[in-house]
Amino acid sequence: MRDITRSEQLWTRARKHLAAGVSSNIRLQERPAPLYFSHGKGSRLFDVDGNEYIDYVAAYGPLILGHSHPELVEAVQRQVALGQTYGGQHEIEVEVAEKICALVPAMDVVRFCGSGSEANHALFRLARAYTGRTKIVRFEGHYHGWLDDQIISDHPHSEEEAGALPFPQPVLGSKGQLPHAAGETLVLPWNDLDAFSRLMEREGQNVAAVITEPIMCNGGFILPKPGFLEGLRDICTRESSLLIFDEVITGFRADLHGAQGLLGVTPDLVTLGKAVANGFPLSVFGGRRDTMDLVGSGVMHGGTYNGNPITLAAANATLDVLSRDNGAVYEQIRAVGRSLMAGIRQAAQAAGQSVLVQGIGPVLFAWFTDLSEITTFRDNWACDEDKYAVFQGKLINRGVRTIPSGRWYVSAAHTEEDVRQTVDAVGQALKEM
Ligand SMILES: Cc1ncc(COP(=O)(O)O)c(C=O)c1O
Repeated sequence: MRDITRSEQLWTRARKHLAAGVSSNIRLQERPAPLYFSHGKGSRLFDVDGNEYIDYVAAYGPLILGHSHPELVEAVQRQVALGQTYGGQHEIEVEVAEKICALVPAMDVVRFCGSGSEANHALFRLARAYTGRTKIVRFEGHYHGWLDDQIISDHPHSEEEAGALPFPQPVLGSKGQLPHAAGETLVLPWNDLDAFSRLMEREGQNVAAVITEPIMCNGGFILPKPGFLEGLRDICTRESSLLIFDEVITGFRADLHGAQGLLGVTPDLVTLGKAVANGFPLSVFGGRRDTMDLVGSGVMHGGTYNGNPITLAAANATLDVLSRDNGAVYEQIRAVGRSLMAGIRQAAQAAGQSVLVQGIGPVLFAWFTDLSEITTFRDNWACDEDKYAVFQGKLINRGVRTIPSGRWYVSAAHTEEDVRQTVDAVGQALKEM
């Protein structure tokens, strides 16, 4: 076992004055205990006991360039010396808005805020104002944030809880949530166009917006079936409901132009977060000009920290690096990610373990299951989560840090040598299980 004494001491201390010892409930899943980190560089993260990790958590998604990319550090340092926040306008926010609108097909106009949850909340309000309707359609296994009308059916555990297909019941995700929080939410299985079509025939005239991750990343990595997103697009247009792509994970990760660029389907509205500022707290919502025109003329959206110049300087540098040579860095990330996926599969086969890996490289998912493919959220129920937790613990003990649920993020800083060392660790861990 690696020595994590100092982390354990800090963990004990933290629980006295920091609620549950962490700043986000998601981090409570970490085993053997939440670790404390001192610094990160490139693909590597270092804990307070001096242990080094190849980091595939990537701060739960943002670190598309890895830790402390020199161009980003320089841009942020330059801006810090010029002031921390102005509560007023500045040139970098104009530049970043222009760059994002040039890169993301659906975005004519954007607004900046601080988290993906907030940005999705703003879009729900905007869609309701634009359409004069109240219902939001969402999909089982997708995560859109932790707010009352968002944390619904993101991770139901059984059919008993979630109800029978094709029309599940909404499942609330938190104690203290308003009992009627899901009153305006309609939940569907993802990748089932027939169910969507039937629901919209019945309810379309009440549906303000349909929100989807264009690639399911939270409930396992699942690509849309051919025609599924196109079907959502057509039916939303027919019913005059707005289609929202939640690209908080996939934006600037799946591709320079987002999953919408990769898959060739353009929504009405989009949320970006995570990778857009490589670790600085920025989210973006935006879309068609005629919808976004309502922001500032009737639809309230505010925030003391919105458009913070340090965060925007980070986004500006991140976007410059990512868009260099027409996004050439994505080819490199995809190639390293593909090597990693192939390596995990080979190591599992050699160890006689049934491990399924799905992904596109920059983001991938691994499960312990006999299934040959995962195509719906409910397929996750046939996978062994407890075994994965043991595997993840064994990996971290060998210097490979991954997300406990099974998701892995590959960044521009990861190399083939990182992959080689990772696959070695994966092989050793699996042989012990
Ligand atoms: C797809 C998606 N949407 C929204 C969110 C919420 O973003 P945030 O944690 O910044 O509030 C997340 C967070 O992981 C996400 O994965």
